[in-house]
Amino acid sequence: MLKVILKGRLLLFLIIFKGAAAVAQSGSDKGLKDFYKGYFPVGVAVTPAQLRDPAQQALILQQFNSLTPENAMKMGPIHPEENRYYWNDADAIVNFAQQHGLKVRGHNLCWHTQTPAWMFRDKEGKLVTKEVLLERLKQHIYAVVGRYKGKIYAWDVVNEAVADENDRLYRNSLWYQICGDDYILKAFQYAHEADPDAVLFYNEYGTEQPKKRDRVFQLLKKLVDAGAPVNGVGLQAHWSLTDPGAGQINDAIKLYTSLGIKVQITELDISVYGPDRRDTTGYTPEREQKQTERYGAIFKVFRDNKQYITGVTFWNLSDRHSWLDSFPVPGRKNYPLLFDQNLQPKKAYQSVVSF
Ligand code: GLA
Repeated sequence: MLKVILKGRLLLFLIIFKGAAAVAQSGSDKGLKDFYKGYFPVGVAVTPAQLRDPAQQALILQQFNSLTPENAMKMGPIHPEENRYYWNDADAIVNFAQQHGLKVRGHNLCWHTQTPAWMFRDKEGKLVTKEVLLERLKQHIYAVVGRYKGKIYAWDVVNEAVADENDRLYRNSLWYQICGDDYILKAFQYAHEADPDAVLFYNEYGTEQPKKRDRVFQLLKKLVDAGAPVNGVGLQAHWSLTDPGAGQINDAIKLYTSLGIKVQITELDISVYGPDRRDTTGYTPEREQKQTERYGAIFKVFRDNKQYITGVTFWNLSDRHSWLDSFPVPGRKNYPLLFDQNLQPKKAYQSVVSF
């Protein structure tokens, strides 16, 4: 047993050493995007403020070749009132990407949350009809996709429409209550009409858990069978130190791509916490090691599936700020990314670039 552990540690040390050497040898300007050049673009979710901050901007440009707006293109922020759009933040991100030759993934066009309240209601505050809601969705998608046509290569068209409950397929959102499942197909059609060249994704979490995976597959199959312009599935990949296993990730990729569509990893992070909300242990050396191994193993699965995977995006840049600092436990610091709070590469980084 001890021998196995020692062997494991030695192996990890060698991997990290090899990675550090690779970074050193290749010059300090080599980033994730360069290591993964023959595989897929590597992206990061950003805010306009991060792009204005010199240190974070430099790290982004060194490491990544794709950006996703963390919030700026969601329906609430970008379309706060029926006759008013707020473009500043989204424009800032797209302009930055254009200036530096980065790809942009648009995120997202239709979701059950961060949706403006006006979307579902008439002037009296009553829920609108299906016809009205679909027309509003169409106008929204035409405006947003149309504005960035040719500048945004891929869109998350519908986000999280599948239920978490095992006894139902569709999430019981207001979209679903008013439109049934028709809004999903329609959203893809509108997006395709607005930019026929954009690559269109259905984006979801929990996509590797067998039961939810099979529901997501069912939805995708329906869309594909109905001739919807859906090109791929986004696996959000908000994962933990133990879950899902590499085999489950691989199985999910194989299942979804059997439909002839591609996969993107759209929101990757590896939380150092499990389901226990009372756990406030923080980032111990054991967790750091486990996370390093996990990142290494996960990226091996991605590389092995390179014919199916057309992009991998991290959700946030560094441990300085992650959405997991306030979810699911407000104020509990998390350490889910490849760069530490000082923007330095962690051991996990080395395990991703050593292959
Ligand atoms: C979901 C959404 C993302 C983001 C994360 C949490 O995964 O798709 O846009 O809001 O939740 O930050």
